[in-house]
Amino acid sequence: ANYETIKVEQKGAVTLVTFDRPKALNALANAVLEELTEAFRAYDADDSQRCLVLTGSEKAFAAGADIKEMAPQSFGEMYGSNYFAGWESITRTRKPWIAAVAGYALGGGCEVAMMADILIAADTAVFGQPEIKLGVIPGMGGSQRLTQAIGKAKAMDMILTGRNMKAEEAEAAGLCARVVPADTLLDDAMTTAEAIAAMPPLAAIAAKEAVNASYEMTLAQGINYERRVFHGLFGTEDQKEGMAAFSEKRKGAFKGR
Ligand code: HXC
Repeated sequence: ANYETIKVEQKGAVTLVTFDRPKALNALANAVLEELTEAFRAYDADDSQRCLVLTGSEKAFAAGADIKEMAPQSFGEMYGSNYFAGWESITRTRKPWIAAVAGYALGGGCEVAMMADILIAADTAVFGQPEIKLGVIPGMGGSQRLTQAIGKAKAMDMILTGRNMKAEEAEAAGLCARVVPADTLLDDAMTTAEAIAAMPPLAAIAAKEAVNASYEMTLAQGINYERRVFHGLFGTEDQKEGMAAFSEKRKGAFKGR
């Protein structure tokens, strides 16, 4: 597919998606949503692809929803088009994906980064939910996902004041998996993606499903769900291969079956 607002490359089993609207600091216009949704759908459907990395530029992962596109809209237009609802489809991606964040991840940019299974931040990363300064509130899940990630105390502090949070504070608060030097961000994210891509693919999907279930289920339901999925993986060829490879002291060769 030919994209205008993102760049999509396949590097072995890893799909690399880069926001590509440098003049607007990768602001998330509707065109970006449409293209990104399609790129994620294609990734999920492509058996040769086993992990995805989403990144931006050195200066900005994404500086938020496109303020110029939103500014003139009426309630009827926002409600009628269910503005932003499409972004949720990215969270229904079954295979794992990583957000590699350098520079600004503000508003919708922060919210998309928080949709990732793993968020890796450069030491230059700046996170924030500044929507209140524009007379609105987070609209792509920020009030929920930020609160789940870092707790009410810091989430309220950020969402009510619109203040930014630098990488170091974000890591301490549990917003990202780790912070790395900006010049090694992409290498680090790609190495992590390649490690995941080498895992048994069905186990990767199942692991992601089980972790995400913890947000939707009680502890007892979640543990029961986990155990059933665990049992289910004994029906896969890759479980036999993985355990045989361990006994035979060799690396497993996984097929996704
Ligand atoms: C549209 C944007 C933009 C955005 C930056 N630009 N962010 N355009 N939407 N969210 C544009 C600028 O207008 C400018 O275009 C160019 O990108 C470069 O930005 P500058 O401001 O000149 O850069 P700088 O001075 O370095 O400041 C960077 C910045 C600032 C601190 C990130 O751009 C900024 O505050 N952006 C807005 C951040 C924000 O409020 N995000 C939340 C949006 S609301 P020109 O043409 O002038 O060169 C949201 C969720 C909404 O995401 C949910 C509720 C509905």
